[in-house]
Amino acid sequence: MSGRIPREFIDELLVRVDIVDLIDSHVPLKKTGNNFVARCPFHVEKTPSFSVNRKKQFFHCFGCEASGNAISFLMDFSHLDFIEAVEDLAGFVGVEVPRVSTEYQPAQKKEDLNSLYLLMEQVAVFYAEQLRTSDAGKKAVEYLKNRGVSGDCANSFMIGYAPDEWKALETRFNPKLLLEAGLLVSNEEGRAYDRFRGRIMFPIRDKRARIVGFGGRVLDDSLPKYLNSPETPLFHKGKEVYGLYELLEKNAKPQRILIVEGYMDVIALAQCGINYAVAALGTAASQAHLDLLFRFSSELVFCFDGDKAGRAAAWRAMEPAFSSLKDGRQIRVMLLPQQHDPDSLVREEGVDGFIDRVQASETLSEYFFGHFSNELNLSEMEGRAQLVIKAKPYLEKLPDSVFKEMMFDRLKELSGLGRLDILDNTATLASKQNVKQVGKRSQDNSRLSSARMAVALLVQNPRLAELLDQRELDWSELGFPGVALFKSILSMIADNNSANTAVLVECYRGAAEEKSIKALALLDLPVPDAGIEAEFFDALDRLIIQDQEAVLARLLNKGKLDAEEKDLLRKTLAAKSLVQKNRNL
Ligand code: CTP
Ligand code: MN
Repeated sequence: MSGRIPREFIDELLVRVDIVDLIDSHVPLKKTGNNFVARCPFHVEKTPSFSVNRKKQFFHCFGCEASGNAISFLMDFSHLDFIEAVEDLAGFVGVEVPRVSTEYQPAQKKEDLNSLYLLMEQVAVFYAEQLRTSDAGKKAVEYLKNRGVSGDCANSFMIGYAPDEWKALETRFNPKLLLEAGLLVSNEEGRAYDRFRGRIMFPIRDKRARIVGFGGRVLDDSLPKYLNSPETPLFHKGKEVYGLYELLEKNAKPQRILIVEGYMDVIALAQCGINYAVAALGTAASQAHLDLLFRFSSELVFCFDGDKAGRAAAWRAMEPAFSSLKDGRQIRVMLLPQQHDPDSLVREEGVDGFIDRVQASETLSEYFFGHFSNELNLSEMEGRAQLVIKAKPYLEKLPDSVFKEMMFDRLKELSGLGRLDILDNTATLASKQNVKQVGKRSQDNSRLSSARMAVALLVQNPRLAELLDQRELDWSELGFPGVALFKSILSMIADNNSANTAVLVECYRGAAEEKSIKALALLDLPVPDAGIEAEFFDALDRLIIQDQEAVLARLLNKGKLDAEEKDLLRKTLAAKSLVQKNRNL
């Protein structure tokens, strides 16, 4: 698993796969002309505006502007991160992902982690045994029964009991590993003892079933009520949620996932058959948490206790929520009545009552604007100004999407600032204008500047770079607009041997030029296959001539020329007539 995936492998994968087959296996495609089309999987629509191009190995939706190569498709469609998408794609093509071990991850490290995982598993089994067999464990079983947790449910969450002893673990397992796994604490004199004593133990499993940490609850009112594993090589609070593995066991693609606050909330809900809840581990839900959960479901429901702390936590969750809301993802907010958490509420109101509440929970937009309506007086200008100042930074966090536009529209409505530019959502507007222009240009070939034509043809046909090599152009003499990008693309193709557009675009993932390159890849060029080379060199020649004419105009306007300038004049004239002669051949 560890180690870097070689760049060449990713490029090769993008050459081997056919994006049409890949997408067709997820979203059935229909052939029309050069493209394959379908209703877009990334937004709701009646008529297809999602199209896949075999030659470019690229997809594009004219409706929501989603676009990219096979890797991007899997990342968006299956909610994967980059590495996972590459792994998935390799699986589709039927090859293994090679890994290059990096200096920072010596081979030994992996073995260490494996022995830690093994230890965690053994300790969890030990705790579970203690729950069933020891006398003290019986008290814990009693406690769980009193809280309505059945034996089955306890089993499926692997609930255990940590004996009330200082050295229950140390005498049974490797102390060095126990310390590293956060199961022993060492005191000032360097003496170690068990971290969890006399507690009901909740193993925290990652999505691959490995135990990465524990939470432990006392059986009475003593403090601290809960104790959690510290950060260890296996356990990172900000990244794991409690209950995800157990949830996925029941349903790999749940319609929605509830995010609750506590271990016992997850368990109580599962006990009633609501087995699609997880808990952030005593911390606020982070963006990493949300991105993780969005891979498995497109709808998340935040459940917050009805007390003041719960309400404050709900508002704090807005920041990561806004950042994670790509199109197709939805967040709801459910504030429970005072004095209740999901555990107590589901017991009091029953499963149906609880589910009704989930279904009636507020959408993120309702909750968000509702919060301001409660806090500010929107009938006064001052209140509406505050609204704009406070709400705008959140809206700006939203990734470009239809939803973002609608949220800005709502803010305009509420603030009455409809016609003021201050609210123009600049990023989206800019990209819309781009698309409009691109569309216009592609209908009217003559309006597509030579520079744009040349660079777009190159992006869409990387093999042209090789032909260009044979022309031995003096690039230092060229100054047409976009020449820097043109050169960057040429060297990228040379360095990576980019065989098609998808590979080239992949090389720019995350780079400053990514957006421009993608836009060029998507341009609809009215050039037939047989005419690509001619059109490319024609555009290039026109650029060269334009440059030459600019030089000549400058020199001729000058009147008296020095020796160097005379030389340049001679050379430029000769070069120009050569280009023109070639063109007339
Ligand atoms: N928590 C924690 N440390 C504490 C208190 C709470 O880590 N000292 C975390 C735990 O993950 C806990 C969650 O915050 O599950 C919610 O806390 P709380 O509402 O106090 O607990 P409940 O889950 O309601 O637990 P219970 O019903 O068992 O009292
Ligand atoms: Mn509770």
